[in-house]
This record gives sequence, C-alpha cells and structure tokens, in this order.
Amino acid sequence: MGTLVTTVEQFTERWRIPPNLRIGGDLAITGYTFPPALHVLDAIRQDEAVRFTILGNEDWSVRMDRTAAFRTAPVEEVVTWRFRLVHFNLSRFYDGLLSGFQQHVMVPWRSRLSGWGFTWQRCAPLLFISTAGASSTYHNDNSHGLVWQAEGIKTFHSYVDPDKHLGAEAAVVGETTAEDPPEHNPADRLSVRMGPGDLLWSHALTPHWVTTESQLAMSVTLSHGGLCHQGRFAKRELALREYWDRHPEEAWKLDLRNVRY
Ligand SMILES: [Fe+2]
Repeated sequence: MGTLVTTVEQFTERWRIPPNLRIGGDLAITGYTFPPALHVLDAIRQDEAVRFTILGNEDWSVRMDRTAAFRTAPVEEVVTWRFRLVHFNLSRFYDGLLSGFQQHVMVPWRSRLSGWGFTWQRCAPLLFISTAGASSTYHNDNSHGLVWQAEGIKTFHSYVDPDKHLGAEAAVVGETTAEDPPEHNPADRLSVRMGPGDLLWSHALTPHWVTTESQLAMSVTLSHGGLCHQGRFAKRELALREYWDRHPEEAWKLDLRNVRY
C-alpha cells in the first residue's frame, strides 16, 4: 500500500500534503551498506545517549532484570527479548561504526535536496532497532522523515487522511502520544510494509506508529525540520509556524530533539 513516488517532479509536488509516500526510482539512496543490525545493536547499546524500552508480557521483575542487563548480556540473548531502541545522535559514530554515512548518505542527500530547491533548519539521522512484536508509541513528529529500512521488516502505519483523526493544531501541541493508536476503522489506515532498502516519506505532524515483523529490524530516519520548497512550507508545518507566532518562547525547544518513538 502507499503511492510510490519515483521522480523529483512527483516528490516536489507531493511532499507538502499527506498521505505518506513510498519513495524509489530516481530518489533512491545508494552507495552505502549498513553494518549488520546485530553488530550495530551490540555497539550502540553501550553508548550513553541510547534510549531503549523493554516490552513484552513477561513479569515486571523480568523486564526490570532485562533493563538492568541490556548493555552487558550476550547480544544473541538480548535479541530474543522484545524491546525498542532509539539513538538520536549518530554523528558520534561517523568515524567508526557508521564510517562513510556522512560522506555517502548525509552529504549527497543534502546536496540533492538543495539542488531540488529545498531549504531546512535541521536534517539529521535517527536510528531505530526493535525486535519481533515490538511497537513504537502512537505519536507525531515535528519533522518530516525519510524512513529507510536497513534490515528486517517493519510496518509503518499512518492514516490515509490524517485530518479525519488529528487536526494540525492538535498535532502541534502534541495531543497524540499514547502507547497504542486509538480505535479506528482499518480502512482509514495506510500501512506500508517495509523490507531492506525500502524508503517512505512520513509527513511532519501526522500521527503514526510502527510495528516490527521480523526477529530483528533496523531503520534509519533522515529527519527534516523546517523543510521548505522554494519558499513554501508543508501544509501542516504552517500550523506549527502559526503556533510559534503566538508562542515565540517555545520555538527554540525543537533543539531539544524531543523525538518520540
Ligand atoms: Fe515517528
């Protein structure tokens, strides 16, 4: 499911207004191969900036033990636990674990975006690793995401028409976040199953949630804050800008990188 956009012309026309888009063709990212997810997990779980949540139906004491042992237990055992993990500051791995990512992904992507007429305030990669049965929260982000599935399978769920479920103003003030999505008609849902190499454009300020379908799954989202094409912001971003006009003291808080997962 989901419209596939393969040309710059299609993308520059459709990036401003939901629904989410599958991305391919001329827009694909090439020239970088991720290290295996197991290897990334093993390295990144040691980093102080990593955030993880142990999930599952086990007893709370089991989950507490797993939380305590997450960094030190054999990684082969850790991947049998249900969890989700995020890291929002990958630049600290550009010289080692993710060597080449800056040179072969971030610089070319920024150059292409710029060449297509885009400007932005923030553009940074976020890493997500999760195991079978794990779900993200139900939330929206202030940034557009180019979601890039690196390994395993996840399904990215959003709505065909987000306006029916959460207005832009409500999204701006973050009325969304919950562990699970609210009751809704399955026909209203746009669910994109993503395998290795697949790309998805997730619109800023639209509610979504992500489920993991394989034993281990890793994705990287290139997040774009304040994205603008030839002077035009996305439709939902305009609501955020209007909110900042009324509450200028809050505009800086995006720098806190309060990204929800
Ligand atoms: Fe998100």
